[in-house]
Amino acid sequence: MSGKKIRLDKYLVHVGYGTRSTVQKIIRGKKVKVDGQVIIKPETAVNSLTSVVEVNGERMDYQEFYHFILNKPRGYITATEDGRDQTVLDLLGERDQNKEVFPVGRLDKDTEGLLILTNDGKMAHGLLSPKRHVDKVYYARVAGKMTEEDIKMFAEGIALTDGTKYAPGKLEIIRSDEESEIYVTIHEGKFHQVKRMVQAVGKEVVYLKRIKMGGLELPEDLSLGTYRTLTKEELDLLTQTQ
Ligand code: URA
Repeated sequence: MSGKKIRLDKYLVHVGYGTRSTVQKIIRGKKVKVDGQVIIKPETAVNSLTSVVEVNGERMDYQEFYHFILNKPRGYITATEDGRDQTVLDLLGERDQNKEVFPVGRLDKDTEGLLILTNDGKMAHGLLSPKRHVDKVYYARVAGKMTEEDIKMFAEGIALTDGTKYAPGKLEIIRSDEESEIYVTIHEGKFHQVKRMVQAVGKEVVYLKRIKMGGLELPEDLSLGTYRTLTKEELDLLTQTQ
């Protein structure tokens, strides 16, 4: 464990304790200990990994990168800010909101399920690049009967009348009836992609949930609207390509 040298105030901003001016006040107010000693100078150098930093007796957990997995409910916009609606950031605790994490890719306002939030831009970029072929799996309920012909159409790659062309996707039919249930696997993330692919075969998505990204499945015990830090194993599953 080596870590890097950073200023105490920057350290506290990074762990989400507050803005630079808030944390400077806290430091000057003698609320912060480093390795057991009260430190009152915000510019004091600490080691990001080996220094033990406490605020009001609470040990801070510094990590260069923070990765969260969220089970997104309906009604939230996948963005960090929105003038009108609540965003997925509103589902995080205040300290985690301050960690400058952002959502990796987009789920529509009415889509539920697996959403990753991270402060690692490079990782996010890798996950979203169509070249990397990170599969995303969706569960959907559809108004109308899904057919074998639809499976073929998805496998060939659907082209819309407006010129949009989707790479081949995998359609699995769980149940075909007046209302059908399906799984759709795609590795792109174009606007309303699953809904539009289903629309292109003459049916309509009435419920959509992302259940898998790369090798990472939405954990069953992660209830709607809750989130947690990804484990190292989960992070590996997420970034593995099939
Ligand atoms: N496809 C959609 O249509 N919507 C989503 O939210 C995700 C994929």
